[in-house]
Amino acid sequence: MRLMLAPMEGLVDDALRAALARIGGYDCAVSEFVRVSASCLPAHVFRRMVPELDHGSCIHGMPVRVQLLGADPGLLADNAAVLASLKPAAVDLNFGCPAPTVNRHGGGAVLLDEPERLYAIACAVRAVLPAALMLTAKMRLGVADTARALDCAQALVEGGVAELVVHARTRDEAYRPPAHWEWVGRIGEVVRVPVVANGEVWTVADWARCCGVAGVSDVMLARGAVVDPFLARRIRARGEPHADDEALRAAEWRELCPVLAGFRDQVMRKVKPGHAAGRIKQWLNLLRRRYAQAELVYQRIRPLTAMAAIDEVFAAAGVVAGTGRVM
Ligand SMILES: Cc1cc2nc3c(=O)[nH]c(=O)nc-3n(C[C@H](O)[C@H](O)[C@H](O)COP(=O)(O)O)c2cc1C
Repeated sequence: MRLMLAPMEGLVDDALRAALARIGGYDCAVSEFVRVSASCLPAHVFRRMVPELDHGSCIHGMPVRVQLLGADPGLLADNAAVLASLKPAAVDLNFGCPAPTVNRHGGGAVLLDEPERLYAIACAVRAVLPAALMLTAKMRLGVADTARALDCAQALVEGGVAELVVHARTRDEAYRPPAHWEWVGRIGEVVRVPVVANGEVWTVADWARCCGVAGVSDVMLARGAVVDPFLARRIRARGEPHADDEALRAAEWRELCPVLAGFRDQVMRKVKPGHAAGRIKQWLNLLRRRYAQAELVYQRIRPLTAMAAIDEVFAAAGVVAGTGRVM
């Protein structure tokens, strides 16, 4: 059984990966996509976007795979060669992004209409990677329907993809529930590589149902992991009953406070001062779905833009800036 942390561009960057890895429960993570559109990106761009590359492609023991997004096999291969020199935990290819700006340029989920192109991309990228470096891919079920889902999965595996994450929705379904977990099982029946289920896993019960329906034991958590940073750990501890959910949430919140402080510190080091408040509010806005304490902090910091004022609210809530351990 494996649990993976999903790529989420604009939401999960190295700062949030560090926070979630510190809480633990993940076997690996995939970085947000690095977009390959016109040129061969220099190494420093990969290292800036995925700073874990300078630390063995790992954060708090969690290996980080790096995702590429693009449409041109040759260009993707050139970029993959640069990336490979930085020794990522694996190279991942994105065939799931539904964003119109990305799809208009032929990248992301729109490629699922062209299994031949998927094959060409996988072959070209595989050819430039050292034998020991794994090539993986993340796909949706199709663009408008699932008619070519099996062809796409087979094309990727024939091209050299050694593990496939299936986000069990079409591009047109965007992020709307349900996720069609049964399709993960169908894909698993036609390829000889590990298949990982993804989509709509928010709770331990969702995880159990997803594994049952898909017939797999490996799951990638995405939005659920950000709303509930302890989800992976609770999935691993599923045999242990918790009599009192409120007490559990209170204990989790206490453990989360220094992690939030570390996140705050890392964000402050990374982004321009004017952007830090937005990043911190973004995570708290999601955390308040599970933690009443996060709701209180969020409501207080919502109108604030100055980090000094936010730090005062944090300090009163026990989230003390400068105390968070990172990297
Ligand atoms: C804000 C956001 C950004 C995302 N960015 C990426 C990305 O960079 N690469 C990718 O393969 N998937 C990306 N995804 C898709 C997720 O990895 C995942 O497949 C999707 O959210 C479904 O899982 P969930 O229902 O558990 O959230 C993104 C999703 C969200 C919500």
